[in-house]
Amino acid sequence: MCSKTAGDVVARMALVPRTLEARGLDATPQIQQKLRQAGSPQALRSVEILDIILRDEVGHVAIGNHWYRWLCLREGLDPVAHYPVLVERYQAPKLYPPFNEEARLRAGFSAEELARLRA
Ligand SMILES: [Fe+2]
Repeated sequence: MCSKTAGDVVARMALVPRTLEARGLDATPQIQQKLRQAGSPQALRSVEILDIILRDEVGHVAIGNHWYRWLCLREGLDPVAHYPVLVERYQAPKLYPPFNEEARLRAGFSAEELARLRA
């Protein structure tokens, strides 16, 4: 995705931090649940490490949200309406539930964006 969006900074912000890194927000609680079930000391330590990675990842996604909106404003684009255009144009992976809505909200996604994601 970085190669595909190398010449389009709006698409880069939309599709790397706000799509692929945001996917990490969704996936982490599921991975942590499996590790808790495994229950070994190593698995439980991994859960703690994933908490740190998740916290950091919220920041990465928030940076993407900030600059995506800033770029859309500069270019006269509606950030919510433009996102699916970019997904289609660059053949970004489709996102599927469950979504980590709490982490996505902390990372700056709007209620409208979350509603669209659910739909
Ligand atoms: Fe990241």
